[in-house]
Amino acid sequence: MSAATFPDGFLWGGALAANQSEGAYREGGKGLTTVDMIPHGPARLPVKLGQEKRFTLRDDEFYPSHQAIDFYHRYKEDIALMAEMGFSVFRTSIAWSRLYPKGDELTPNPEGIAFYHAVFSECRKYGIEPLVTLCHFDVPMHLVTEYGSWRNRKMVEFFTRYARTCFEAFDGLVKYWLTFNEINILLHSPFSGAGLVFEPGENQDQVKYQATHHELIASALATRIAHEVNPDNQVGCMLAGGNFYPWSCKPEDVWAALEKDRENLFFIDVQARGAYPSYSARVFREKGVHIEMQDGDAEILKNTVDFVSFSYYASRCASAEMNEHNSSAANIVKSLTNPHITRSEWGWGIDPLGLRITMNMMYDRYQKPLFLVENGLGARDEINANGEIDDDYRISYLREHIRAMGDAIDDGIPVIGYTTWGCIDLVAASTGEMSKRYGFVYVDRDDLGNGTLERRKKKSFAWYQKVIASNGQDL
Ligand code: BG6
Repeated sequence: MSAATFPDGFLWGGALAANQSEGAYREGGKGLTTVDMIPHGPARLPVKLGQEKRFTLRDDEFYPSHQAIDFYHRYKEDIALMAEMGFSVFRTSIAWSRLYPKGDELTPNPEGIAFYHAVFSECRKYGIEPLVTLCHFDVPMHLVTEYGSWRNRKMVEFFTRYARTCFEAFDGLVKYWLTFNEINILLHSPFSGAGLVFEPGENQDQVKYQATHHELIASALATRIAHEVNPDNQVGCMLAGGNFYPWSCKPEDVWAALEKDRENLFFIDVQARGAYPSYSARVFREKGVHIEMQDGDAEILKNTVDFVSFSYYASRCASAEMNEHNSSAANIVKSLTNPHITRSEWGWGIDPLGLRITMNMMYDRYQKPLFLVENGLGARDEINANGEIDDDYRISYLREHIRAMGDAIDDGIPVIGYTTWGCIDLVAASTGEMSKRYGFVYVDRDDLGNGTLERRKKKSFAWYQKVIASNGQDL
């Protein structure tokens, strides 16, 4: 199969996120965020799901985000490695609580601004375009405890103040922005996604969709502000992507898959098309959800994004008989296990053609440029006797997905770029493990925080360097 042609100027690179890489969780004036409260081990899941209040840190728990991979102190070394691979784009996020430690202050913390100024300038030094997410799974904890996080409309004010600060402080350094990482994860992992914690007996759907409305308003306002500050700014939404396949051609299964897709696409329907989709009134009625809106909200939502970004790890699968027992939450969103595809060590499906399918569906639906900002294989890596890491499995996963993305481009879809997830090993969001590695660069650290944090190139490092140098031709 010949490789598809990637357009000139196609952005190649990788992605990290503040909450999984920076560490330094109390340095530089940073406040605590949701991720800082999520421990490693069995207590992790109930906290992530918002089923358990953990508003204080415990001495007997290990919190992987506190040190993470220490990008805060090692960003120069890490960005130099990215430059060596030939990156033209690096995706990361700003930790909201470095700029606004509590979240509701009126003025930002200068140390936080100085840190990101230095990071983005370092990227520019190498000609690397930063792609920056404003909120990647890290709501300031003070906003959770004092305001109930996104269930409260006041969050719109706090977030837009923070967003304006970012657009103004980093104007000229950052052009590509994302508002909320995987915004649909709010439904599936409400505390890590949006800082939501539930009271016993309340209608969780009501809370989730009211919070969703606030995030959608905040995202639309941030988009407007970004364009006001600099008309060259490009703002994207971000979907945890992957189409649902029907389990069979039984009409009920096809309908179930369509409904499951809508559950996630609802967010992007609003952010990319500027209004609540036609099906939403019926869905809210069935869930007993009533969304409080304010005059002018419909106008605000018309501030649509410039491009649609998404993560893709695997496709999903649904049937009319799908339930708690026959589905599992590989990649956070629950799915039936598709027998036609293989799986990673963590049970996540491997389906490159699903990427082409997903991209075609999204472009058909939104008619906006796409940006694939997360993709990769979480795998255990071994250092061999020669001190090398032969991660051929990772190369093979990425090669097949780059091919599929190339096919989607050949289908006529405009694609801005591609950032592989965890280009340098980082803490896994779902499990908090370090052993679930995605990187071209190995980081010496284990699941309990032992290790020197030394960086080491894997075999995939040189492979990706070659892919970038050939603009996707030499896979
Ligand atoms: C996405 C997130 O859900 O998937 C990342 O945006 C996350 O933060 C990535 O790390 C991979 O998931 P995991 O659980 O393997 O880290």
